[in-house]
Amino acid sequence: MRIEGKEYRTIWFDNLSQTVKIIDQTKLPHKFIIKDLKTVKDAINSIKIMEVRGAPLIGATAAYGIVLAVMENNGLEFIKKSSKELIQARPTAINLEWAVHRMNNALSLVNSNELLNVALKEANSICEEDIQFSENIGLNGLKIIEEIYNKKKETVNILTHCNAGWLATINWGTATSPIYHAHKKGIPVHVWVDETRPRNQGANLTSYELNEEEIPNTIIADNTGGILMQRGEVDMCIVGTDRTLSTGDVCNKIGTYLKALAAYDNDVPFYVALPSSTIDWNTKDYKKIPIEERNPQELSHIDGQNINGEVNKILIYPKKSKAMNLAFDVTPAKYVTALITEKGVCEASEKGLKGLFK
Ligand code: MRU
Repeated sequence: MRIEGKEYRTIWFDNLSQTVKIIDQTKLPHKFIIKDLKTVKDAINSIKIMEVRGAPLIGATAAYGIVLAVMENNGLEFIKKSSKELIQARPTAINLEWAVHRMNNALSLVNSNELLNVALKEANSICEEDIQFSENIGLNGLKIIEEIYNKKKETVNILTHCNAGWLATINWGTATSPIYHAHKKGIPVHVWVDETRPRNQGANLTSYELNEEEIPNTIIADNTGGILMQRGEVDMCIVGTDRTLSTGDVCNKIGTYLKALAAYDNDVPFYVALPSSTIDWNTKDYKKIPIEERNPQELSHIDGQNINGEVNKILIYPKKSKAMNLAFDVTPAKYVTALITEKGVCEASEKGLKGLFK
């Protein structure tokens, strides 16, 4: 998608410099910086400190992390150790583990002199596939937006949480892909963007990327969604997910559950958009999903740009206060109207998912 009119992907391998290029998301929206990852340690760190983030994108970064590991040292011990460290970089999004396993499977089939070529080919196809999945999610979700528009004949108001936009994937996004497709088709859409404390991915990333594609959007404080739904100002919610169980329970950015409860109480359809790489087929009990707990400093300090254009971090809590920072929650399947996947739209249940993914 576009930034200042120029098309980008969130990650790519640069043949000339033999490095992985990423958009440093910790600097957005104030600065647009492309950064080089040169070693597997760079990739691990970049995932940890959220220069790259969003389930599909951290999966892709881990895949390129394996490429960088092979470039540094193609011994099996080093690749194994690097794989473990990549998986441990963030615990909740299943795509990380999925991508590392897929890379290791591909590497296990070849001789050591072929490792680099195969690793690069596999990481590139993970990205190409993700783009195709996101595009298909968009086309499948577009039908739902179209239906609402055909009844309403007025702007369709969509609420989203966190950033499940193209910045969280390779291109298109998951939750935003149906929105981009509707906009391209000339359907008037407006997006309510949850700010998404503590890191403000909604304000800093979702609103930013929608602005760049000229999609009308309004940032709201995280607690505003409920009253907007009561007032009839939300036609549908679409969110992304970091891990969806085969039961249809959806783990996503903290606060998603409360939005789903408000949507349920107000008869607002609540959709979750996801590629199949985000499905966890093994875990059955959502209480077993590892929920990342991040540094409380993300709550007590906030980044902002001052009038001189400098970006600073400031303390916004009393110095002596303790804070707690859970990064994800789980929305039980019963609150999810449907899942929008690359293969179609289905009920949030084992039956629904298995119907699409045999
Ligand atoms: O902590 P983050 O920013 O990596 O969280 C991921 C998210 O942005 C989401 O929760 C998103 O909705 C799912 S990723 C498409």
